[in-house]
Amino acid sequence: MCRDGAGTSSLGDLCQRPTTLIITNFFLISNLNLTSFSLQPFPLVLSQQTLLRSLSFLTEPLQVLKGCTQVSLEPSVLQAEQPQFSQSRSPLPRGYSRGAGGKGLLLGAYASEEEGGAAQLSAAGDAFDSRVSGRLRELLAACGPPLKKGKARIFHGLHQDFPSVVVVGLGKKNAGVNDQENWDEDKENIRAAVAVGCRQIQDLEIPCVEVDPCGDAQAAAEGAVLGLHEYNELKQKKKPVVTPQLHGSAGNEAWQKGVIYAEGQNLARYLMEAPANYITPIKFAEYIEQKLGNFASNVKVHIRPESWIATQQMGAFLSVAKGSAEPPIFLEIHYLGGANANDSPLVFVGKGVTFDSGGISLKPSSGMDAMRADMGGAATVCSAIVTAAALNLPLNIIGLAPLCENMPSGKANKPGDVVRAKNGKTIQVDNTDAEGRLLLADALCYAHNFNARAIVNAATLTGAMDVALGSAATGVFTNSSWLWNHLYEASIVTGDRVWRMPLFEHYTKQVTDCPLADLSNIGKYSRAGGACTAAAFLREFVTAPHWAHLDIAGVMANKDEVPYLRKGMAGRPTRTLVEFAARLSQDSHNPK
Ligand code: BES
Ligand code: ZN
Ligand code: ZN
Repeated sequence: MCRDGAGTSSLGDLCQRPTTLIITNFFLISNLNLTSFSLQPFPLVLSQQTLLRSLSFLTEPLQVLKGCTQVSLEPSVLQAEQPQFSQSRSPLPRGYSRGAGGKGLLLGAYASEEEGGAAQLSAAGDAFDSRVSGRLRELLAACGPPLKKGKARIFHGLHQDFPSVVVVGLGKKNAGVNDQENWDEDKENIRAAVAVGCRQIQDLEIPCVEVDPCGDAQAAAEGAVLGLHEYNELKQKKKPVVTPQLHGSAGNEAWQKGVIYAEGQNLARYLMEAPANYITPIKFAEYIEQKLGNFASNVKVHIRPESWIATQQMGAFLSVAKGSAEPPIFLEIHYLGGANANDSPLVFVGKGVTFDSGGISLKPSSGMDAMRADMGGAATVCSAIVTAAALNLPLNIIGLAPLCENMPSGKANKPGDVVRAKNGKTIQVDNTDAEGRLLLADALCYAHNFNARAIVNAATLTGAMDVALGSAATGVFTNSSWLWNHLYEASIVTGDRVWRMPLFEHYTKQVTDCPLADLSNIGKYSRAGGACTAAAFLREFVTAPHWAHLDIAGVMANKDEVPYLRKGMAGRPTRTLVEFAARLSQDSHNPK
């Protein structure tokens, strides 16, 4: 091995003068492309997972390690034809372990206040750095340009208790609420950075990671639990399970709260991601019933069958359901957390179309599979109630979810059919793919039976909502500024944002001008303002003074926009609904 001149230097010396870099095929410790170790006398030893015969694999380490002025190559790197990564041959220092059985540590680092300056470790990072005699800080400085927000660096072999330490970039310290972005930037940065770090630990197959609270243990827990979630229920090969734990003793309550919030969103993600042949209306209801089983003392679940729906005269809902062989369910859950069982409840209503083919107005086949998540409204509101129960929130909440499939068949709605909703209004079904509003019309009428403090419905209602806002925010249509303020304030904290949309008469006219019935289920100018005409339609079934309709079609799925959610169904805005309920439970005054 060629070790240019570094043989007798101390680590401190090395960091102050031109650094020697060794590229070695020392051993495989991770499935990352690049892994750094601190092994005396070299401040950085890089292990390359895949040795290519060409030297192109050197590009990445050399780019990262811009500070290095000398590079030494272990001869075996140049000679190797096959990777030689047997773990049994890996000469880790005595007392150190890695991979399965070891423990990871995730630490945060803030961006320097000066442009291009070194990252500043968090309080926990500082404490750990002292335990390793300042080696973490030295390595961080030696291993390339300052750590960027949302990026991670891994160091191995620094401390016996933590064979792998991942340092994540938290961005600017005390960034606070950003009024352009309408969210708390510190919290968002923590969620994103912790998620990235935890996934690195998962890639290393380390079963447990202690997570730095980074100044906000709730946000850190949310980043960890949301960032690690993946739907792999139906795969034989699953990602290794990583259990995140709070590092240190401070902030345990906030950490637990973050875990509960994130698990709530993950429940909604699970239900939305699952195939429609697994989550049918009855399976959905039974799954929620089982989740609420843990809180049986103050929860009641009613799984209402088709006969009950018929006696309720929910003709609009039934007209959609009858196109499918799968029977509809009306799920009704009562969480009694309030001081008094008859305190006015918050009522949540969620669209529960477990598969939306469009019906006779059939959707195009490409991308139709995503319509298994058309029960996202039901999934998010029911998950929010499960979460409220887990948090023992001091208020009463009722959840209502009309559940069915929208399928084409000899019994399905036909364009032009007229159906009658629970409140007696007739509806001309001009497009069978605008089915969500038919379910919600009846569920909203039913919601008025409970003297609600507020009625909030969530629905993957219109493609137009996705066109309007994309995945940035849930569109909120509401007749109550009081309700809007609560939802908005909640969303700043959770980072799962809302944006107010109009409920103008302008749109109402476009759904009430209908040849055969009181209402048409589509706006007369078809696509124009599609999310707004859908909201105007729903308003025809609302008399309550505090009602909000959340169109969640745009936030239904995540590609890569939210960095702490993997690709897939997003379960948004479950945490905002929970935070909203928590805030409502602290506000005893309902405006008139
Ligand atoms: N479930 C869809 C809306 C949707 C689209 C949700 C994309 C999520 C992603 C809804 O039932 C629907 O099909 N709406 C129609 C309404 C139209 C026919 C007026 C739409 O948006 O195209
Ligand atoms: Zn539809
Ligand atoms: Zn739909």
